[in-house]
Amino acid sequence: MKYINNNFFIEQKNIKNLVKKFSTPLYCYSYKNLKKNIENFKNIFKQISPLICFSVKSNSNILLLKEIKKLGLGADVVSKGELFASLKAGINKKKIVFSGVGKTRAEIEYAIKQEILLINSESLSEVLTIEKVARKLNKVVNIGLRLNPDTDAQTLKQISTGKSENKFGVDKKTFIKIINLMKNSKFIKIKCLSVHIGSQILNYKPYDKMLNVLDEILENLNYKFETIDLGGGMGINYENKGKKLNYLKYKKSIIKFKKKYNCKIIFEPGRSIIGNAGILVTKVIYLKHNKTKTFVILDAAMNDLIRPALYNAKHRIIPYQRNNSRSKKTLEFVGPVCETTDKFLTEKNFQSIKENDIMIICDTGAYGYSLSSNYNLRVRPEEILINGNKVKIIRKRQKISDII
Ligand code: LLP
Repeated sequence: MKYINNNFFIEQKNIKNLVKKFSTPLYCYSYKNLKKNIENFKNIFKQISPLICFSVKSNSNILLLKEIKKLGLGADVVSKGELFASLKAGINKKKIVFSGVGKTRAEIEYAIKQEILLINSESLSEVLTIEKVARKLNKVVNIGLRLNPDTDAQTLKQISTGKSENKFGVDKKTFIKIINLMKNSKFIKIKCLSVHIGSQILNYKPYDKMLNVLDEILENLNYKFETIDLGGGMGINYENKGKKLNYLKYKKSIIKFKKKYNCKIIFEPGRSIIGNAGILVTKVIYLKHNKTKTFVILDAAMNDLIRPALYNAKHRIIPYQRNNSRSKKTLEFVGPVCETTDKFLTEKNFQSIKENDIMIICDTGAYGYSLSSNYNLRVRPEEILINGNKVKIIRKRQKISDII
């Protein structure tokens, strides 16, 4: 994605032409970026030969899942819907892990029948439910047990999952208790220790701490796990010049860990695979001035992209067409939804803009469309995938008749 003669292109496609054809708001994905992210991820961890399970919650578009499958990844799912979509996309069932704190009996039964690789369980009650269902179906089920390592991921509070006050996983004591309790179960085999401390992590040190906690437990527990599922959480660079995760340091620690415990490794990345492969294209409906600032009212809103409203997350906004003049006032980019938090970004020294201009909200491939809603009875946007000069509609814009 880049400017060519001051106009923004996604691969070989001029955004203006895409807007003419598909209208706005419009989610556009670059196949090349997606492929590059997957190849980079694989390359970084080559020595570990991990199973990479794409975290479907970050983007569950089935046509993207099909591409992700072709590029060799498995799936990390958290609901019957995500499991169904992943299987439908052709992802090998032996490359699918099912996580989540509240899987229902029906979901567990569905997952067992599909014979997926692992159900990652997060409580004693859930483990016992899985055992009951497995007994009823007369099947032996491989599961993972998620540990809450009480590690601060040093990321946004709302997307931290590894501290003891968070609902995720079980504490060390419970972990050991469940392992001992299930040692002789006929229907449940605990094959994996799983962990995921949070999302948008940019510092490798919390990962190191997490590995140290695992090391401590494994040293004192006389139990062999075939697999360690390290979850996802690798952060991306939302600000142009921001911090980057030091993958090499993280990799080094994992190599050491893997040597000591001779286990397979699973990763569940979402954002790092699809985040920077997507943009949300939008148009300026109106400009409205007050004493101190100009509201730039876009046709995209918090229902299309809720991250800024929900986490105060910052997504860069750039104009489709670059110019050299500056806005005198501060610009506040907002959507049309009737909520004060329907606000994307406040910018000083932005270039001058006018009504009908096209704007691009960057890095919206992960947790963009998948967190969208029909709030204010607004239809969900269209999604298109660009590969070179080819464009494919991968999800049609909803119609009002679809949602009422
Ligand atoms: N594995 C588990 C068990 C998870 O809970 C998650 C994310 C992932 C993997 C993938 O994490 P990633 O690699 O994408 O960071 N909606 C928030 C993010 C919530 C993440 C929830 N769990 C956001 O927009 O920032």
